[in-house]
Amino acid sequence: MAPKTEDEPLTARQVAAIKAAAQQGLLGTVGVQEVGAQESVSSDGGEAPLTLEALEAEVQKKPFAFLYDGDTWEANLAHMREETFKEKHFMHACAVKANPLEYFLRRACELGHGAECASISEVVHSLDVGFAPDRVVFDSPCKTAAEIEFALRKGVHLNMDNLQELARVEAILASGRVNLTPSSIVGIRVNPLVGAGTIAAFSVSTGKSKFGVPLQKSGQERESLLARVVACPWINGVHVHTGSGGMGLDQLVAGVRTAVDFALEINERAGERRIRTLDMGGGLAVNFNVAQQLSDFAPYAAALRKDVPEIFADNVFDRVVTEFGAAAQHKFALLASRVEYTKSYDGGRIALIHAGSDVFMRACYCPETFVHHRVFAFSSTGEQKEVSEDERVPTDIAGPLCFAGDVVVRDAKIAPLEVGDIVALADVGGNALSIRTTHCSRQGPQVFVFHGANEALTFRQIQDVQPVRDSVRQWKCRE
Ligand SMILES: Cc1ncc(COP(=O)(O)O)c(C=O)c1O
Repeated sequence: MAPKTEDEPLTARQVAAIKAAAQQGLLGTVGVQEVGAQESVSSDGGEAPLTLEALEAEVQKKPFAFLYDGDTWEANLAHMREETFKEKHFMHACAVKANPLEYFLRRACELGHGAECASISEVVHSLDVGFAPDRVVFDSPCKTAAEIEFALRKGVHLNMDNLQELARVEAILASGRVNLTPSSIVGIRVNPLVGAGTIAAFSVSTGKSKFGVPLQKSGQERESLLARVVACPWINGVHVHTGSGGMGLDQLVAGVRTAVDFALEINERAGERRIRTLDMGGGLAVNFNVAQQLSDFAPYAAALRKDVPEIFADNVFDRVVTEFGAAAQHKFALLASRVEYTKSYDGGRIALIHAGSDVFMRACYCPETFVHHRVFAFSSTGEQKEVSEDERVPTDIAGPLCFAGDVVVRDAKIAPLEVGDIVALADVGGNALSIRTTHCSRQGPQVFVFHGANEALTFRQIQDVQPVRDSVRQWKCRE
């Protein structure tokens, strides 16, 4: 995460989105008058019990939603694809783990992106969405032999994480069950050993990393790795992902430089241009304090153009893959929830909303480590609450789960919130829904994508609130 600075406000478009969502009735209401209104009187005039069907219908009106800005999300991808990393041989895969919603994967596919997958399920999901197999990149550090064979048979770009996996691929190829084609891409992931960033859990380029084959600068280990790779003429890719949020640009660039040097050394030893795909991973950090939504692709590309010009040349690699996750997703959605209840304590307030550690696990379990969601107060009709500095109240935005740590933001200095008001949390488009937990069997939220001019935003619902029955299906056991 970038160093903490003063939080910037929402953009005018985000403010308009909250207002439009409230006014178009997408955020429901709170209070008893709505609950089971249709069901409260039976046909004989007596009181009818609230049926499960009626409860499910009410659940669909739960007053909270993820609101994705489809236009700005696309503008950011276009900035990456057409302005910064614009050479035709770039294949920009979106890291599926950051935002696996089918709507965005399909749109990314239509726009010419690929899909970076961290599991076989993500591979299957991406193929189902319609990505061509060679635009699907399979990057798990713990693939089973069956998953490897499935991916190879499908023609998916496979990045081997380690030498044991390499031996499995070798055995599968030797069995004759899979024949690679000239368009097959099989890469080897290296750990460039550039050191940790500011977030330990995202620092994968340390000596103790579980990812990739450690790549020493020189010495016997490097020599034997080179020999092993050169002896496998079917290896035609090198993969590096130096780390995620918290890695400085200089570290990311050093990681790519290290991978490119390795690729060129393989080619030199092999006496041919064998490594044709260079996969430079993702890792670009998100600045959670700022209103600016476009990601820092420009400074990253500029630094790479200076220090690793080979990836931009048209005669060094046939394909350069990027795998941006956070930078492609985080800044493009808001969470809007009505305040269901409030509590006051000495000098502050707690606002209970419908999303907590079930969707904001990183924020709740590790406050201020991975993410920082700016928080804004809106009235029940969707007007941003403007108050003077003195009138602001330190407010905890607490979720609905049954444990004390279920607080998304602590001590936010915002306008006093009342029951029915709307809380907006910024930059929730990535690594929130995909890290959802099923703790307390909460229902997943409804999701909308909005498009159009600020004054006339149109919302398309892409996910319903998860039905109650569905939220407990996973707990059923075999007879
Ligand atoms: C191999 C690989 N590629 C890409 C990504 C996406 O990283 P980021 O979201 O930092 O861009 C990750 C994140 O874990 C990863 O492990």
